[in-house]
Amino acid sequence: MRARGFAGKVAVVTGAGSGIGRALAMELAHAEARVAISDVNADGLAETQRQLTAVGAEVLSDSLDVADRDAFLDYADRVAEHFGSVNQIYNNAGIAFFGDVEITRFDEFERVMNIDFWGVVNGTKAFLPHLIASGDGHVVNVSSAFGLFALPGQAAYNSAKFAVRGFTEALRQEMVLAKRPVKVTAVYPGGTKTSFIDSMGVAEHLGEVDLVSRYDKRAWTTSPERAAQVILRAVRRDQPRILIGPDTKILDLLVRLTGSAYQRVVPPMAARFVPPPAY
Ligand SMILES: NC(=O)c1ccc[n+]([C@@H]2O[C@H](COP(=O)([O-])OP(=O)(O)OC[C@H]3O[C@@H](n4cnc5c(N)ncnc54)[C@H](O)[C@@H]3O)[C@@H](O)[C@H]2O)c1
Repeated sequence: MRARGFAGKVAVVTGAGSGIGRALAMELAHAEARVAISDVNADGLAETQRQLTAVGAEVLSDSLDVADRDAFLDYADRVAEHFGSVNQIYNNAGIAFFGDVEITRFDEFERVMNIDFWGVVNGTKAFLPHLIASGDGHVVNVSSAFGLFALPGQAAYNSAKFAVRGFTEALRQEMVLAKRPVKVTAVYPGGTKTSFIDSMGVAEHLGEVDLVSRYDKRAWTTSPERAAQVILRAVRRDQPRILIGPDTKILDLLVRLTGSAYQRVVPPMAARFVPPPAY
């Protein structure tokens, strides 16, 4: 079933060269939206463009690093000029990272924040004037189940994704108070079958650690296509937040039921993901 309510809208998707971003772009195209896609991965982006063109979508494709604020500001103006207006931005691009606070260098921490948090802020602020001008705007920011609860080894990623949550929830309330024609939705995916974990960064201090094989892929229950469908339904319904996958829903419940006590329950469960300390 195709999403309704998107025909003719201009939608911007970052990190569209893979996974959830590609699935979002395809789902938007099937719903007859016009799409602007971007990524740092040229090959992945070209493949998304090919798939979009094959289904007859109107598409604008650009190389964009979401951490590059000036480039993002220029890009927003170019997209608006190209299509005449912009209705929706899906701030989706992100990276995974593993490393305990003790051994993660400042620059490694900053890289995660620059992409996973500042990338979202850059995209939101660059496009907000255009979304307001459209008279029918929507900001969709992708956080994570790890934006709802914290795990050992995930301090950098947790920080970025918790920050996306706070930023997005505040923005939604501001738009309502200021009577701006812009809706705001925060997205919390759980384990989704993409290349996300395969391309995960690891604190250099840990050396050559095969973390990827330690992750139990059975927990990756949601397909990117399903995630995209759930996100578009939430956008159409103007939901403030959307939890994707049974794992996210269970973990959200655990945190809300136990308060801070989840921090005693989670570490033993997470232990199998944590490599033997090399420090
Ligand atoms: N897959 C999961 O299990 C999962 C779970 C929770 C949250 N998420 C979030 O979903 C979003 C999409 O992830 P995915 O699962 O599709 O992963 P993915 O790795 O398949 O796709 C992410 C895309 O972002 C791009 N990207 C990385 N750095 C970038 C940058 N600086 N500028 C522009 N593009 C950049 C990558 O090239 C890639 O194409 C991310 O924000 C991620 O944190 C994913």
